[in-house]
Amino acid sequence: MSAPQVHKPQPDSPEPTAAVAPMSVAVFVALAVVLHAGMTRVDRAAGAFSPLVYAPYSSEEEWQAMAARSPLELQQERGAAIFKGKGGCMGCHQAGGEGSTGQNTPPLAGSEWVLADKPDRIVRIVLHGLSGPVSVKDRVWTGGTMPPVGANLSEEEIADVLTYIRSAWGNAARPVDVKSVKLIRDAVGSRAKPWTAPELEAVPVSAGK
Ligand code: HEC
Repeated sequence: MSAPQVHKPQPDSPEPTAAVAPMSVAVFVALAVVLHAGMTRVDRAAGAFSPLVYAPYSSEEEWQAMAARSPLELQQERGAAIFKGKGGCMGCHQAGGEGSTGQNTPPLAGSEWVLADKPDRIVRIVLHGLSGPVSVKDRVWTGGTMPPVGANLSEEEIADVLTYIRSAWGNAARPVDVKSVKLIRDAVGSRAKPWTAPELEAVPVSAGK
């Protein structure tokens, strides 16, 4: 009988072994140099962003435009947003403040009510509404009723929207401050009915009266 066959490893195919193959130092150094150079570059250029600019601004120009705006301009901007949105004024008085004869809504552009020295009448109109015939720009408007839209607005929002309508569309009357709105709101108290024009005409709106 012949001896059983024993498999012997061949000398030219050694058993595989687990070992750490040394990485070339040159490759490591080259990688480190490239990474370092890249990071330095991003750092220097600040990723193409200005260090002056962060959220909510997306460019230095935008930030400068914002920073250059006066408190009055910011108040007018907030007022314009209330005019178009929450206050609902635009739906009736139209985007250009021209009003609408079809809807019996008088204009705000050039209106003597809007342009009065003091805002005492228009604050009341916004707070409690207006009904009955009203003369605006030499025309008597009848048939429309303005609801008490100001019931949903804060004193600041009323001051902002009135400041806006007093300075938009060529109107040029003084801004309205929050304190005046609060004083008028406190003086009027609660009221269930809209104002009428004759009632409001009894409220002085110029410093001399
Ligand atoms: C639902 C429609 C409606 C909305 C909303 C409305 N108004 Fe009026 N507004 C009128 C009507 C109609 C009149 C005239 C009422 C009348 O004939 O007695 C009027 C009158 C006025 C007047 C006095 C007259 C004039 O033309 O100058 C002012 C000021 C005014 N509104 C401002 C505003 C402001 C500010 C807002 C938003 C905060 C607003 N209105 C929201 C319908 C509206």
